[in-house]
Amino acid sequence: MKKTASLLEHKNKFLIFGCGFSGSFFANTIRKFGCNVLTSSRSTSKDPNNFVFNSEKGVVLDEQIFDGVTHILSCIPPDKNGDDPVLKSLQSKLQDLPLKWVGYLSTTGVYGNTEGGWVSEIDQPNPLQQRSHNRLTCEKKWIESGLPVQIFRLPGIYGPGRSTFEAIKNRKIRVIFKKAQVFSRVHVADITHAIIYLLQNKDCLKFHQIINIADDEPCSQIEVIQYCYDLLGLTMPKPISFEDAKDELSPIAQSFWMENRRISNKLLCETLGYKLIYKNYKIGLKNCYQNS
Ligand SMILES: NC(=O)c1ccc[n+]([C@@H]2O[C@H](COP(=O)([O-])OP(=O)(O)OC[C@H]3O[C@@H](n4cnc5c(N)ncnc54)[C@H](OP(=O)(O)O)[C@@H]3O)[C@@H](O)[C@H]2O)c1
Repeated sequence: MKKTASLLEHKNKFLIFGCGFSGSFFANTIRKFGCNVLTSSRSTSKDPNNFVFNSEKGVVLDEQIFDGVTHILSCIPPDKNGDDPVLKSLQSKLQDLPLKWVGYLSTTGVYGNTEGGWVSEIDQPNPLQQRSHNRLTCEKKWIESGLPVQIFRLPGIYGPGRSTFEAIKNRKIRVIFKKAQVFSRVHVADITHAIIYLLQNKDCLKFHQIINIADDEPCSQIEVIQYCYDLLGLTMPKPISFEDAKDELSPIAQSFWMENRRISNKLLCETLGYKLIYKNYKIGLKNCYQNS
């Protein structure tokens, strides 16, 4: 697809709230396009492009941070009360800015359990966990804010520095088997590059407010773990059944196993034409292996 007037070649200014794993990958990438990028974290850092934002501690942000801002990306999950940290603290401030675009990283947890069935953006969310109810409420609040928001629903995020390799290295791996259970995933680079693709082609693509970003091949956790052990040339420990393992899992880990769904990326990859860099876990994990 021909790129129209590239949003990223001009001197746009991005504020990225929550510069964790996905936020920092996005920030580092768009800086290479020449954008001015400021990022937030909860504690002070030596990085002059970082500012402190902690919704739990009261917010007094320097006004200069907002000067010339054109784009915002929020990568912060709901707080302990279920509120959106950015909207709770800054909604009216953001509404006063002449923003071209606001991105919000959400989760496919809002779809709940489809018992392994495919689920897409047109399906009604059906959250199972309280945190997913909270997330859906935050999505609704972003939409109701009237800001030019685009919501990205994400499955398990992995990439160099955060993948099954780290779990193996840190001896935190549990090889659990649960019949017919699958998980969907996305490589962190595809989150960034899908968003950049949508921004660059904004003028010629129909605007969709909610978009899944996921790879092509949901699969069992065991397949992924086995592949990592194979790349490392090590023998995978013997799997344990979910029934035997579940009492030792944290409540949050247990809750992940209660949901079984395949996330469709057809809107992003077929309708909108984004080409995944890492179509499946094998290609993505090779990248992690080479960069670990
Ligand atoms: N990880 C996954 O597999 C996954 C899957 C689906 C969806 N998601 C969602 O996608 C988004 C990005 O995920 P990620 O894994 O890249 O995130 P991450 O690495 O956990 O980073 C989260 C960021 O939010 C900041 N933050 C958290 N609570 C805050 C608060 N109350 N006030 C201000 N800042 C706060 C953190 O600040 P510090 O830098 O100071 O810690 C951090 O920068 C999140 O909303 C996440 O829930 C994640």
